[in-house]
Amino acid sequence: MDCFEIKGGSRLEGEIEVHSAKNSVLPILAGAVLINGETVIHNCPELSDVKVTVDILKSLGAKVKKENKTLIIDAQNINCSEISCDMMRSLRSSILFLGALLSRMKEAKLSFPGGCDIGLRPIDLHLYAIETLGYSCKISQSGIECFNKGAKSADIYLDFPSVGATENAILSSVFLSGKTKIINAAREPEIEDLINFLNEAGADIRIVSPSVIEINGVQNLYSCSHRVIPDRIEAVTFMCCAAITSGDLLIKNVNLSHIKPNLPQFYEMGCKLTAGENSIRIKAPKKLKRVREIQTGAYPLFPTDTQSIITSPLCLADGKSKIIENIFENRFKHIGELKKFGADIICSDSRVAVISGVEKLHSAKANCTDLRGGAAVLIASLAAEGTSLINNIHHIDRGYERIEESLNSIGADITRIKNEEQEEKN
Ligand code: UD1
Repeated sequence: MDCFEIKGGSRLEGEIEVHSAKNSVLPILAGAVLINGETVIHNCPELSDVKVTVDILKSLGAKVKKENKTLIIDAQNINCSEISCDMMRSLRSSILFLGALLSRMKEAKLSFPGGCDIGLRPIDLHLYAIETLGYSCKISQSGIECFNKGAKSADIYLDFPSVGATENAILSSVFLSGKTKIINAAREPEIEDLINFLNEAGADIRIVSPSVIEINGVQNLYSCSHRVIPDRIEAVTFMCCAAITSGDLLIKNVNLSHIKPNLPQFYEMGCKLTAGENSIRIKAPKKLKRVREIQTGAYPLFPTDTQSIITSPLCLADGKSKIIENIFENRFKHIGELKKFGADIICSDSRVAVISGVEKLHSAKANCTDLRGGAAVLIASLAAEGTSLINNIHHIDRGYERIEESLNSIGADITRIKNEEQEEKN
């Protein structure tokens, strides 16, 4: 597997552009299954999770073409309702094909999804939504089999505003006659992007109040083109890179309202932020200040995906910061890796971490434990004195498009060492 060699210590300065959102494009690609025609996705990020999702679409019978960064999916000939176990296990969002296939093929046979190992990640809310709509589901050790035997619109009350369950509820109800209501639906910007995409194709979906979504069933969806929203998590990742290197970055292609839940912490760290039309400039101080307490929560609260990422600059802040993870049970695996750089972090349990800022970080040989945990380790290495080596970077490649190229363009010194080169060195 590839790894990164990072010469740390450079101040990051200049302009950097955010790619389109991974967590938007993946549900939208599943949504392409519903379209009896062509879906054109502009500015599609080049990520390994997108590649696997395209492979799933092809295995179902869709034709997929890539022209530069535009992806064209022709789903007219989709003729299969089963997805191989390998592809299902490669990522979490593969479960969204459950709702999409039920709408399109009236049946779906899937194994359980994979994704980052950050907690139990059950799918009970997905299945509850689908069964509430009247689909029949059989669950066994090998997976899930669902059929449409008289499914119809219904009110779905989610106990927790799960992102994936909301997306599956939408995808499985687009063609059901009457009005489906999702109550306590997730409010993440990626949900709105999926709704906008489906409406562009002819669906009738409305966000009627902040956490209620109404789907009026339509008979067909038609060819459409869509530009995916900017990746808010990548934007915050770049802000953390600036913060930890006392940098000065103009980050372009940013939707400011989407990153609003993250801005108070950068102010508290002492960063100077200047908003542009679709951009943000961050100027970090020489010494960061601690953030008293961060608690993750469902949007519009502090996003769990940025919890691990912000831990890295806090390792160098003046004072103690506390992070409480409320969404996932096991999202502190990166902390063991950050300690290899000399960070002082104590986890009193699997949900609470206290970070005591240290004067400096030193180079280390560390691992990516998951996608955002991997980003946290990379951010720490940017400030660490000396040359660090980061393994298992396939986790980072799942959600960041060639991140080393983006960061090197603003002053980082990161080399991707290909698997073959490593073998030669050994
Ligand atoms: C999505 C994002 C992920 C992000 C997460 C929370 C994608 C591809 N991934 O993941 O990056 O970290 O939202 O913002 O968009 N839960 C249940 N039962 C279910 C479903 C979820 O108990 O059926 C629980 C989960 O275990 C977790 C919480 O709900 O504790 C949030 O999960 P959810 O919002 O569903 O996250 P994902 O859709 O998996």
